[in-house]
Amino acid sequence: MEKVATSDVRSFWDQNPLCATQIPHPLGSKEYFEYFDDLRERIDSLVEASVIHEFAAFGGKRGLEVGCGNGYVLSRYAQHGAEVDGVDITPTAVDLCRQRFTHMNLAGAFREADAEQLPFADATFDCVCSMGVLHHVSDTARAVAEIHRVLKPGGRLIVMFYHRNSAPYHVNLRLRAWTTSKTQRQLVNEFDGVGNPKGEAYTRAELTQLLGSFENPEMRVRFLERHMLLPKVGKFIPRFLLRPLEGIWGFNLYAKGRKAERAAEARAA
Ligand SMILES: C[S@@+](CC[C@H](N)C(=O)[O-])C[C@H]1O[C@@H](n2cnc3c(N)ncnc32)[C@H](O)[C@@H]1O
Repeated sequence: MEKVATSDVRSFWDQNPLCATQIPHPLGSKEYFEYFDDLRERIDSLVEASVIHEFAAFGGKRGLEVGCGNGYVLSRYAQHGAEVDGVDITPTAVDLCRQRFTHMNLAGAFREADAEQLPFADATFDCVCSMGVLHHVSDTARAVAEIHRVLKPGGRLIVMFYHRNSAPYHVNLRLRAWTTSKTQRQLVNEFDGVGNPKGEAYTRAELTQLLGSFENPEMRVRFLERHMLLPKVGKFIPRFLLRPLEGIWGFNLYAKGRKAERAAEARAA
């Protein structure tokens, strides 16, 4: 894929904070975050998120989210006692994180930074997560290398990417590409909003390759709503039929891995 300009990525997300158009409350108000959290937990329950993130395991440890949005995920780590940092490419997201943490009476440090150049020393964090972010970044491989650098040896990576071998990609977006003037590529870019310059979907094999510097990779697939399967008529599909398919054809591909305790050269010696 042709590289997109980071300035275009920043400008899209600055004008389109995640889900902001669906929230009928002033940006940054307490009600805004409560509404966002409710929307989020309808598709990503706290129970499921706790399994993926293992929040409790990072109490007293240092955690970073790359592309922290309005701070939803980081606030869950902070509630379990982690010392958290968040970076995001937009000033709006950084402000939202500060406002969220103030409303929730939590401590956290937030700053504007690009995933491709993390403003932290090597081996700083016990856990780095990046949920639904790296597929939007101009140079995704470079951002993964940065995450590896700032993780401590043995530290945990947790990421979420769009899943290519999914029903939304192969059915919904393909049908929409046939019936609209947009290509499937454009529709994936715009999954989180019209005008988004980049949003790339990955297969498990592609993600395994991208995360090749991490040990013990584990992947799981989730998130399949009726409207994501078929445009327009999807809402008539009984929900119970979708549940067994979610783990195979869902649109969110999660991966976890660890940075090796010792560098490869040291192990070989
Ligand atoms: C889909 S939102 C996800 C927000 C958050 N991770 C969550 O799970 O709620 C994507 C976020 O990534 C941020 N982002 C995009 N490109 C970035 C980059 N190069 N560096 C840092 N953040 C970036 C956007 O500003 C946006 O807040």
